[in-house]
Amino acid sequence: MALPPLTLALSKGRIFEETLPLLAAAGVGVPENPESSRKLILPTDSDALRIIIVRASDVPTYVQYGAADFGIAGKDVLHEHMAQHPGGLYQPIDLNIARCRLCVAAPEGFDYQAAVRQGSRLRIATKYVRAAREHFAAKGVHVDIIKLYGSMELAPLVGLADAIVDLVSSGGTLRANRLVEVEEIRQISSRLIVNQAALKMKGERLQPFLDAFGRASSAMA
Ligand code: PRP
Repeated sequence: MALPPLTLALSKGRIFEETLPLLAAAGVGVPENPESSRKLILPTDSDALRIIIVRASDVPTYVQYGAADFGIAGKDVLHEHMAQHPGGLYQPIDLNIARCRLCVAAPEGFDYQAAVRQGSRLRIATKYVRAAREHFAAKGVHVDIIKLYGSMELAPLVGLADAIVDLVSSGGTLRANRLVEVEEIRQISSRLIVNQAALKMKGERLQPFLDAFGRASSAMA
């Protein structure tokens, strides 16, 4: 009897697009694209693998509970996830894909450095609550963190926050909303994550993918 395919959890957008060459290196093609297909389970041209499409912040959850055997998630998402749900995830490789940076950004006219020097209490809107808390605590800056789930750039424009902590890639979204980057918190890229039980039970089938992804990502670095 044929074994069920392994399940890889990915999110739409850059992670999906930048995973395609890694899958190609493992000999797997993906005929459908999540941007044009509404399917959440995408078949591949290999009986050995299927892909599930989930929200970026949900990838670690699917892998941790074993609903996906492995997945690809940004370090930003993993950092937030591991604070509340430690354990169960093996993180063997930094794939160096979907590179961007986690930054503090503020409106053009706001003197962020002066506000920090004066010891002002700042309101910060972000999806990355743990990273933001850690960053400002390390600087000794008092902040009120306002948790948002997207479109963070809007918050300072309508008086919800003084500044935001968000991902910046091209800088286009900041420019379009007249915000400027005032501090870089850290560089972000995406990691391969593997369910530890799946690695024990399905290691022989998973390992060729881990090896091919590792080789392809170092060749592209
Ligand atoms: C991310 C991030 C910024 C934008 C940065 O949002 O939150 O809004 O990309 O990219 P840029 O510097 O190239 O403009 P994303 O589109 O992933 O959606 P999100 O709001 O759901 O995080």
